[in-house]
Amino acid sequence: MERKVAMVFGGSRGIGAAVARRLARDGFRLALTYVSQPDRARDVVDAIVAQGGEAFAIRADSADAAAIGAAVEQAVARFGQLDVVVVNAGVLRVGRLHEFRIEDLDAVLDVNVRGVYLAIQAAVAHMRDGGRVITIGSNTAVRASNPIGSVYAMSKAAVASLVTGLALDLAPRRITVNNIQPGPTETDMTASHIEQIKALVPLGRVGRPDEIAALVSWVAGEEAGYMTGASLTIDGGYVL
Ligand SMILES: NC(=O)c1ccc[n+]([C@@H]2O[C@H](COP(=O)([O-])OP(=O)(O)OC[C@H]3O[C@@H](n4cnc5c(N)ncnc54)[C@H](OP(=O)(O)O)[C@@H]3O)[C@@H](O)[C@H]2O)c1
Repeated sequence: MERKVAMVFGGSRGIGAAVARRLARDGFRLALTYVSQPDRARDVVDAIVAQGGEAFAIRADSADAAAIGAAVEQAVARFGQLDVVVVNAGVLRVGRLHEFRIEDLDAVLDVNVRGVYLAIQAAVAHMRDGGRVITIGSNTAVRASNPIGSVYAMSKAAVASLVTGLALDLAPRRITVNNIQPGPTETDMTASHIEQIKALVPLGRVGRPDEIAALVSWVAGEEAGYMTGASLTIDGGYVL
């Protein structure tokens, strides 16, 4: 049977790496991007290949439109098709209004908003009808929860809004567009403040990347075909 193809933007570490490994386990051939950590990207590829899967990594800065387009072209050239795209690459910059620098504002919007839109645009141009677009937003789109994360929350709220419009746009092609909104999850992004966050989660712990990946796996699968335009929060009850 022909193996479907998935592309994960930001698949070298954390949630994206777990998603790449999980989709490979589900039988997808994988293309993943990274920007700064080739060794981590190689580890993910090696782990997938060691399990009998097919994967390769592409350096592509999600702040660079040309790099995003070229990465999609490479994935399609290698595998000949594209069925699922997971746009996970994201950056966190924090600070109160009076101290927040314009460079950080631009960095967050470039990767978390503009980069998401451009990745979807590039991928869908090659995607087969009936495909899946999955974004990784954040539960902060629902409730910011702290005074230093407003720009990050704004970027993730933009993504939640984007998927509703794109779901309508792409419905005629039966391409579903959904957004997974994790809460605090154990990755490099949260490493410095994990203990403080843990205390704020009703379930008393932070999430594991493989738990987020399991939800992505379901949304990417056949059974999720009737769901589109949804933002699904998975956060241990944090925003309740
Ligand atoms: N961890 C959490 O608690 C949490 C909660 C809610 C939402 N999220 C969201 O989940 C996603 C993944 O977060 P994470 O915690 O797994 O983060 P992470 O551990 O910091 O990993 C970020 C991933 O994105 C890639 N990336 C970052 N900037 C990029 C760029 N400009 N171009 C291409 N790739 C880029 C990184 O590549 P390199 O390895 O090459 O740097 C890495 O693969 C993000 O969108 C984040 O906002 C995370």
